[in-house]
Amino acid sequence: MRFQGVIGAALLGSSALQHVAASTQPDVEGDLVNIDGYLVNAERLETRQSAPAKIAVTGVTGNGVQPRMELRTMQQQYPDMFNVFLLGLRSFMQMSQSDPLSYYQIAGIHGRPYVPWDGIGSAPGFGGGYCTHTSNMFLPWHRPYLALIEQELYKHVQQAAQSFPAGATRNKYVAAAQNWRYPYWDWAAAPCSSCKAFPALLSDQWATVTTPTGIQTIANPLFRYDFHPVSVSDMVYNPFASWDVTKRYPSSWDASAGSQNNLLNPIFTNSQVNFRDRLYNLFTNYNNFHQFGDSAWITASSTNADSLESLHDGIHSSVGNNGHMTYLDYAAFDPVFWLHHVMVDRSFALWQSIHTDSYVQPLAAVGSTFTYPAGTINDVNSPLTPFFKDTAGTNWTSADVRDTTKLGYTYPELQNGATAASVRAAINRLYGKNAVAADVSANVNLGNAASSAPASSSTPAAPSAPAVPSASAKPSGPTPPVAPSRQNAQRPGLASIWRSHPVHIWSPWWKRDNMTGEPYYNANGTNGTDEYHHEYICNIVSQKFAMNGSYAVYVFLGNVSSNSTEELQLSPNLVGTYSVFSNMPSEDNDMANMDLKITGTVPLTTSLLGKYETGELRTMLPADVEPYLRKNLQWRVAKYDGGEVAVADVPDLSLNVVQAQVTPAADETEFPQWGAFTALTSVTAGKVGGYSAQYWNCPEDGSSFDNGYSGTPAAPQTPETPATSASAPYGNGTAASPVAPQGTAAGTGSVIPLSPTTYTGAANIVSMSGCAIALAAAALLI
Ligand SMILES: *[C@@H]1O[C@H](CO)[C@@H](O)[C@H](O)[C@H]1NC(C)=O
Ligand SMILES: *[C@@H]1O[C@H](CO)[C@@H](O)[C@H](O)[C@H]1NC(C)=O
Ligand SMILES: *[C@@H]1O[C@H](CO)[C@@H](O)[C@H](O)[C@H]1NC(C)=O
Ligand SMILES: *[C@@H]1O[C@H](CO)[C@@H](O)[C@H](O)[C@H]1NC(C)=O
Ligand SMILES: *[C@@H]1O[C@H](CO)[C@@H](O)[C@H](O)[C@H]1NC(C)=O
Ligand SMILES: *[C@@H]1O[C@H](CO)[C@@H](O)[C@H](O)[C@H]1NC(C)=O
Ligand SMILES: *[C@@H]1O[C@H](CO)[C@@H](O)[C@H](O)[C@H]1NC(C)=O
Ligand SMILES: *[C@@H]1O[C@H](CO)[C@@H](O)[C@H](O)[C@H]1NC(C)=O
Repeated sequence: MRFQGVIGAALLGSSALQHVAASTQPDVEGDLVNIDGYLVNAERLETRQSAPAKIAVTGVTGNGVQPRMELRTMQQQYPDMFNVFLLGLRSFMQMSQSDPLSYYQIAGIHGRPYVPWDGIGSAPGFGGGYCTHTSNMFLPWHRPYLALIEQELYKHVQQAAQSFPAGATRNKYVAAAQNWRYPYWDWAAAPCSSCKAFPALLSDQWATVTTPTGIQTIANPLFRYDFHPVSVSDMVYNPFASWDVTKRYPSSWDASAGSQNNLLNPIFTNSQVNFRDRLYNLFTNYNNFHQFGDSAWITASSTNADSLESLHDGIHSSVGNNGHMTYLDYAAFDPVFWLHHVMVDRSFALWQSIHTDSYVQPLAAVGSTFTYPAGTINDVNSPLTPFFKDTAGTNWTSADVRDTTKLGYTYPELQNGATAASVRAAINRLYGKNAVAADVSANVNLGNAASSAPASSSTPAAPSAPAVPSASAKPSGPTPPVAPSRQNAQRPGLASIWRSHPVHIWSPWWKRDNMTGEPYYNANGTNGTDEYHHEYICNIVSQKFAMNGSYAVYVFLGNVSSNSTEELQLSPNLVGTYSVFSNMPSEDNDMANMDLKITGTVPLTTSLLGKYETGELRTMLPADVEPYLRKNLQWRVAKYDGGEVAVADVPDLSLNVVQAQVTPAADETEFPQWGAFTALTSVTAGKVGGYSAQYWNCPEDGSSFDNGYSGTPAAPQTPETPATSASAPYGNGTAASPVAPQGTAAGTGSVIPLSPTTYTGAANIVSMSGCAIALAAAALLI
């Protein structure tokens, strides 16, 4: 069954019709030509540039604002909608790959092929596809991108519904299809009781659907994309140029390698809690849009080393496990890409509804895209290329996409007169320390969403519930010493449950932001209120492109018995994974030479609580935790395409553990308040890939930062550039011999200009180290 893509034209207006004709053209297999030193598919270039009018990206129009819902919620609560979604996606994927509105070409906007889409040519010195990563436009750019695929897939969903014989059945499907919006895969929430961490809906090769001719088993369109055919000139590099389907966790990079989706659920189960903790920390502790949104390392900051982008990178790399999703250039061809990015967009929208006053600020791009060379100052009015609002070619900008309802969609938590307080309550319920398993029957309100006030707004609203701690809330110091009394802190059965579950299970006992009626686990034996508790976070910085592909830093508490990537991912001692979503450098991109440092985190608190429960850790106080971590925190690095690599071979890698005092929320509509951060530099200092002052030694505010809880101020470290010894020890307590600094650009090369006005070109990007930048950039950003 194949549709011609015309059915949605009536819904979208006449503009869509002009592009349908392109689908009648044969697939073009052009030659690569060298333009300005870059390989470009000449025939595709010509085909695309001949488009008479611009493609209007509108999102779905014509039936108001509807919620994008969780994939499993759609399947279980709206099975008819889910049915036409699968049918529509299948026909969408079958469109001619030469049609600019095909699944193939829309996926191709993100990375390869590096050719113009809708006539928007490349910038001199471009690198990669159009997608903006490590950029203040990372989150906004993906908004019209998702709206584009949503509006195009919507046409096929409508067509699928219309294909049923006239009557009650067709009416049922047409009604369901009307309200369809792209679903998301919530990889952070604990899966519902019948769900897997890596959903079966993604990993099953076959899907059972109702078609106009009855119930059939079809190839599951969420499992993979089938290239028809795979184009060597578009994909350029093997194995991607020879694989005719998208693959997840391929058994090898041979042409014949199979996908191993079955291995993904254990990996996601092992990482679920860490992903959730990261998302919750982002929601509750990140108040600045740039710091929340993108992963670029800009300042030596200890308090906000994570970002939604870094977390998003981890999902990419883990799902792909060396398949398409693991590499920027190929990721968007895998159908899970869209479900993942809708989740990212939802997280962005939820954050926006709480932080209405922080958005895109002018910043120099540290990386390059197809249209923006590195160093370009991007601001809220920069075009989100190649997306136009209308056929006349009005660019979409970050300012334009601040409010999702302009693109015809919202999210369940933002419906029904949502407020910042109600969104915080929803976030607490799904991702907080008291989180409950995701409820697939959660209230999704179809049909009348347009009439409800969206919480997300393009105009900053007066904060409805300012998240300002009361003046008396912040503790002035630790609670008084009390004799340890572990009995008080025991929850029935938890320790044995923990021990019998190598995987970090979700645990409802850990109400560490609401200890009402429970002993205060932080104080060594004290019963009392949860005045504050300690959060421990491992901050990580590294180079994005310097490893010739995507790689990950695996953080453990305790020894790791094996060095295969799979066993690193499945180790019961794994705390979390910091994954770098990179690319394979090649002659037609300049990524290998980019100095682009990024940061992320691995929260440690939940795993430390497990050690506390088993008695390995005496208390959760820094005085106990710091030496425990120094002894037990270990890390390994592995590339997705080549197994483990020596930590010393990872340029600019630095891990630094910090702790923060967190005051619990006053009620469920508030977030916990993050207080002072302290760097526990001794945990990683002196180890390969450990603490290095050039990345972290910057007190944003002398009163809220010091070097070493243990009272021994860490001596300023010699900048530690990793040596190249392949036999370097791992970060498990074995001190590395001092490493001589090397004359590289480490720590100085990728600093952003402090303000647009001082920027005079990439060569003149001001180069400052550490604190001055942090303070100045903080002034710019706030
Ligand atoms: C839209 O953006 C492109 C790319 O930056 C630019 O060349 C073009 O002039 C913009 N169009 C308008 C109408 O501003
Ligand atoms: C108990 O905890 C308090 C902080 O709550 C700390 O100051 C004290 O040193 C601890 N006592 C012992 C014996 O660990
Ligand atoms: C501490 O809390 C536990 C559990 O609620 C309770 O059984 C115990 O009596 C409390 N101890 C004191 C000294 O208040
Ligand atoms: C990068 O990785 C690819 C794929 O493994 C390999 O073919 C290539 O030689 C590597 N390049 C460098 C510079 O290591
Ligand atoms: C970790 O490995 C070291 C060295 O092999 C060993 O001495 C130590 O006992 C191990 N720790 C655990 C908890 O197994
Ligand atoms: C990994 O283990 C294999 C087999 O035990 C060994 O040959 C190899 O040297 C190890 N690699 C590293 C990096 O430790
Ligand atoms: C704390 O937990 C208790 C019992 O679970 C609950 O009744 C109360 O509402 C919670 N308080 C907050 C502030 O979340
Ligand atoms: C650290 O890990 C390495 C590799 O597993 C191991 O050989 C070494 O014994 C460990 N050292 C300690 C102190 O645990």
